[in-house]
Order: sequence, then structure tokens, then C-alpha cells
Amino acid sequence: MCGIIGFTGNINAKDVLLQGLKALEYRGYDSAGISYFTENGIRTIKAVGKVSGLADKVASASSDTAKCGIGHTRWATHGGVSETNCHPHRFGKVTLIHNGIIENYKELQDELAKEGKEPVSQTDSEIAAMVIDSCYKNNPVRAIKKAVKKLHGAYAFCIMFEDHPGSIYAIRNGSPLVATATKEGAIIASDMVALIKYSKDYFVLPEHHIAHLTAKSINITDLDQNEIEPDMLHVNWDMAAARKGGYEYFMLKEIHEQPESLHNTISPRIKDGLPDFSADNIPDSLFTDINRIVITACGTAMHAGLIGKNMIERFSRIPVTVDIASEFRYQNPILDSSTLVITISQSGETADTLAALRLAKENGAKTLSIVNVKGSSIARESDYVLYTHAGPEIAVASTKAYTVQLAAVYLVSFRFALAKGTLTEDETRKLAATLLEMPSFVENMLSCDKAIEPISNKLKKTKSLFFIGRGLDYALSCEGSIKLKEVSYIHSEAYAAGELKHGTISLITDNVPVIALATQENVFAKMISNIREVRSRGAKVIMVAGTGAQVDASLCDHLITLPPVNDLFAPFGAAIVLQYIAYYTATARGLNVDQPRNLAKSVTVE
Ligand code: F6R
Repeated sequence: MCGIIGFTGNINAKDVLLQGLKALEYRGYDSAGISYFTENGIRTIKAVGKVSGLADKVASASSDTAKCGIGHTRWATHGGVSETNCHPHRFGKVTLIHNGIIENYKELQDELAKEGKEPVSQTDSEIAAMVIDSCYKNNPVRAIKKAVKKLHGAYAFCIMFEDHPGSIYAIRNGSPLVATATKEGAIIASDMVALIKYSKDYFVLPEHHIAHLTAKSINITDLDQNEIEPDMLHVNWDMAAARKGGYEYFMLKEIHEQPESLHNTISPRIKDGLPDFSADNIPDSLFTDINRIVITACGTAMHAGLIGKNMIERFSRIPVTVDIASEFRYQNPILDSSTLVITISQSGETADTLAALRLAKENGAKTLSIVNVKGSSIARESDYVLYTHAGPEIAVASTKAYTVQLAAVYLVSFRFALAKGTLTEDETRKLAATLLEMPSFVENMLSCDKAIEPISNKLKKTKSLFFIGRGLDYALSCEGSIKLKEVSYIHSEAYAAGELKHGTISLITDNVPVIALATQENVFAKMISNIREVRSRGAKVIMVAGTGAQVDASLCDHLITLPPVNDLFAPFGAAIVLQYIAYYTATARGLNVDQPRNLAKSVTVE
């Protein structure tokens, strides 16, 4: 969840670290710190709050120059938000930064206490520094090898040893680390956004391998000290993609990037008018040799899975279940070689989704992942990967990554049905052609912000509201609700419209807002009845209707009508409406939508 960076080279390391931390700030941001080698040993500067606060402190603390250092932005897990708990942590000759959780830190702490060693912070990370220091006899690699045998849990460490100036050592288990050697020096970070200024080529540090960074190179060895050459990867986005480009918030920028992300995700996969995964090396046998599908993911990615279930079952008539990854993994799920487990993840690093994938593989299921970040753990560990091409998503609230996940599940549902013969070539062509229109459909939708901003202004004082819908619209309601909650802090619930009267309608009283999605013709009449039910109890209804819907003006307080589109593709339009509702309601409340409280972009802890 935290952001980490290390640099050693021939330019000012403090600048590299602070710029890197700024780029990583979206990952975790309650405090930040850097450590760097000086002529008189390692110097550490920490600050609670934003990276800009740390930068001010660094500037006023000293004008010393540094060529090698490490930096960290913290999202508190063990121990509250304080300078003491902020990284880097130092013990003896070891200074380190850590992303992850050391599960057995209490036991280790008790052992260290017997030797009279006490930490100053409440963090598991400081205990890791103490363990590494206790294993250290002037050989960093040997100390790290010995220490990681004692550490249980997920970690990515960048470590400096007091008597090895100019060197950074790194190792990871679970938590991500990417690195690159450039003419300016060697750089390592938890996320490509911190590296992109220096290189588009990088590698993912393989798990349980030690990277030794010096100004000239990066040397990687396994735990038996065999040197390995990493697989190099390339990203096709640049610094501009990781900057706000004139938008007030990344979230708004990313909402506007959806036509391009959709185009990049869909068009390379439509060949001769048909969905085609040959460039992704996904064979049709993956779809024909199974008899059920489990989709597992977290949060917004799971909501994309709900839409995927609807589409796959509709076209292939094969049973699909959707499970929250953190539940799935502890429920002894029924899995075998006839099951296809589809994991969906923007980051490719979500701890629960990764664990669910591993469980699926252990039980012999086939695995396909839909992932945005190239070379991420979930992508690397899945049998097959369908990459989405949203580019970097910086805002914590997922927008463009969600709609490209929708595009990916639509493509899967079409190819699946074509391979199984449940859709004819002609039918598939028509669906693929409509999917190809989604970038321009979404482009068109982007101008509905003018209609939504005034509605959001009215919602800004609301304490609680409801999203209702049926079928695809229910899946979208779940997404609308999470989006609003995470950025505006307004309580909301998503309800299957027909289920509301089985209890929750008791909460509908005068002026309670209800956002009713009614884009599906087959259940439109049912939705109208549900809307009447809430209206007659005093609800203020904001209705999102499909094209051509005959809506009686007295039925709702605000009506947003989607431009003409086949009902099955309405989710691409409704998603934009819901993203705007969340965005404008949060900004009307004066909130920083890119950095909502308590949230981090990539949830690499359980
Ligand atoms: C909500 C949001 C989260 C993520 C969830 C899974 O806007 O971003 O709910 O969708 O944490 O993350 P990934 O997709 O990286 O696995």
C-alpha cells in the first residue's frame, strides 16, 4: 500500500527521491521520509502529512548533496501516524523502507527483547530492520538471506547498510518492486510511475531474489547466489500520462481518458470484425474445455465481474459465479480442471485477488486474468492474461480502469460464445461492431457533466442515499455506490430494485435521494414500479434512463437520458454518469477526490 523508491547514481538523489515520492503519493500518504548517504553516514528526514511538507523540511534541513538514498510514503497499518512510525527505519547499521506486512513481527520482537533490543516505533517494519541488523556481519546479501527466512508475510524492502555507501539492496515477497538502470543511475520503486521520468524500459524484481543497486548497474541474484538476467518490459505511456495535464484532479483527467483507453483495449482485439485473442496467446480451448467460471476480484474490479457474469451467461449459457476475493479464498471453494477462474485487477497486485488466483491454481483450475499493470504479480502468475490498456491510473477511485475491464469482459463473453457456438459469426460481428463504437459513445457521454454538476450540488448535503437497478443496472448501482462513498464520504447503498421492499425501504423517507438506473428495456416497467414505490415514500429520484424510454415527468426529480445505444452496452454510458455524480458531489463538498481518507490505490495487504 505504501510507495517506495531507491536511487543511486550521478545526479542529486534527494531530488529523484522527492519527485518519485510525489509521483507515488497516491499509493499512501499519511507520512513520508527519506534517508541518504552523506559524508558522515546516513541521514534521515521524515514528516507527517504530504510529500510537499517533507520536501520543505528537506530543503530547510540542509544543503548537503546526496547520490544514493531511499524514500517512502506511508499508509499506516501497524502503529499510528507519527514521525517515529514513518519510514525509513534504522537499527544498528541497517536503514530500510518496507511495503507490506510482517505477520510474525510480535514473536520476532519478543525474541529481540531477550537480547535487550527494543524498537522505538510501533511498526512491524522496524522489527524487520532489527532482524536484518542482527543477521549482519558485514555481508549485506548474507544478512538479507538469513533474515528473510525469519520474516513471514508480504514485503518489498529497500535496504542501505551504513558501511556500504552508494549501495541499495532490495528483496520482495508479494509486494511489487520494479527497477531500471539508466545513464543517471539505478532506480527501484514500488510502481512504474516513479521510474517513467528516467526510462520506459524496466523489469520486475523476481520474488525472493536480491537486487544490488550501484550507480553503474543492478545485479540480481537468487538466494543461492546465482546471477540472473531479468526479463525487460516496456511501457507505452510517458510522463505526460502520469501528470494532471491541466485537469484539477487525476480523477477528472482519467474520466476523460476513457475513450482512448477503450479504443486501445478493444480495437487490437477485433480482427476481421470478430473478437480475436491470438495476439494475447489465449486459445479457444480455454473456453471450450471448461464447464463453469468463477470470477474473483475486489471492489470496483469485482463490480466489473458482475457485469461479466451477466454477459458470459447470457451469450454462452455457462454458469458463472462472482466472488469477492477476500471471501473466496477462505471458503474452501469448489475448483477443478473444468473450472476457469477469471481474476480482474487494475494493479495486478491486490493481495486478496493474488491469493485467490494462487488458490485456484493449487486446485487445478485454469486461470485467466484481466489486468492493467504489465508484469504485475497477478499477470505473471496467471495461465493467461488479457491486458487492459488504460495507462497509469493515479486517482484512488477507479474510473478508466473500470470501463476497460468492462470492455475486456465483453470481449471475453463474445469470444467465448463464438468458440462454443452459442453465438453465430454474424451475431458476434454485430456485437463486436457495437463494442468498437464504445470509445465514441463514451466521448459523447462526457458532455453530460453539465447536467450532473447541478444535481451534485443538491446532493452535497445529503447524509445517505440509495442506488437502485435491475440486472446490468444493479451491477452498475454497486459501482455507483462505492464511487460516491469513497470520494464524497456520503453513505450510500446499492440495492437490487426489487429487493428494496424486503426491508431497506424503511429507510426511504422524505427527501432521501434515490439514484434509479433504468437503462434496460426488459425490466423497465418493473423499474418504474420500484421508482413509484420510493417516490410515494418521499424519495427524491434521480433517474438514468435508456434511450427511447417513455418517462412521465412526475416520476422523477431529475432525468438523465443516455444517447441511443443497444441496452447491453448502456453500462458504458451509465458508468460515466455515476463517475461524474461521485466526482462533482465530492468536489462540491470541497474534498480532495484524488486522495480520499483512509484509502490507498493498491491494496497489497489483506
Ligand atoms: C474503487 C477502487 C477499488 C479497487 C480495488 C481492487 O474505486 O479502486 O475498489 O477496485 O481495490 O483493486 P485492483 O483492481 O487493483 O485489484
